[in-house]
Amino acid sequence: MISVNQLHHQVTSGEDNLVILDNVNFAIERGQSVAITGSSGSGKTTLLSLLAGLETPTSGEIIAQNQCISSMSEDERASFRAKNVGFVFQSFHLIPGLTALENVALPLELSGNPDAQSIAKDYLSKMGLAKRLTHNPTQLSGGEQQRVALARAFCVRPPLLFADEPTGNLDEKTGEHIIDLLFALHQETQSTLILVTHEARLASTCDQKLVLAQGQIHES
Ligand SMILES: Nc1ncnc2c1ncn2[C@@H]1O[C@H](COP(=O)(O)OP(=O)(O)O)[C@@H](O)[C@H]1O
Ligand SMILES: [Mg+2]
Repeated sequence: MISVNQLHHQVTSGEDNLVILDNVNFAIERGQSVAITGSSGSGKTTLLSLLAGLETPTSGEIIAQNQCISSMSEDERASFRAKNVGFVFQSFHLIPGLTALENVALPLELSGNPDAQSIAKDYLSKMGLAKRLTHNPTQLSGGEQQRVALARAFCVRPPLLFADEPTGNLDEKTGEHIIDLLFALHQETQSTLILVTHEARLASTCDQKLVLAQGQIHES
């Protein structure tokens, strides 16, 4: 379960203070799928970064996996993320110098898993990429890169899986395929899935919908 209490986040840009999140409160039950929607600039990526422990809020509390991640140091957050968090980005964020297999095996190796290579191969096969193991990211299409990114995010079976507009750089048909794979993996691993999306249809298939506007959350 994730619990967000009186969350406030602001940044300084030039001389101005910009309030991005203003007294945000909500809870997410374990294993749920949650859609975060809102217009561009409404703070969706910022909220996701805070929930994933990538950033620290200005004030307020975020409890995830029974730990108060909002009061952790940078090192503590890094260790929390390694154990608990998978992240899928709009622009894939694969490591350019590594093959598909190496990209997926990396988080497994970092966690000390002795079967990193074979698990990574299994996940890539599940994503339909058994014949792309030694391809570098530049040799893969956008949809293929996102499938590698899905394999990389889910292969360590993190309890919390975040996806920030994972279909934003893909055509409609490829995007639908990615979403089907994302939900199949979510169901198989029983992760809590928190997804930012512009697509109303996709949002409506999630268990819970959070709409961000003017720094506030509206549940619908
Ligand atoms: N580090 C930062 N410094 C200054 N402004 C920022 C920073 N991060 C985000 N913003 C601003 O905060 C607002 C919310 O950004 P973001 O969370 O990326 O929105 P969304 O993902 O909904 O498009 C935007 O207006 C953006 O320009
Ligand atoms: Mg964003």
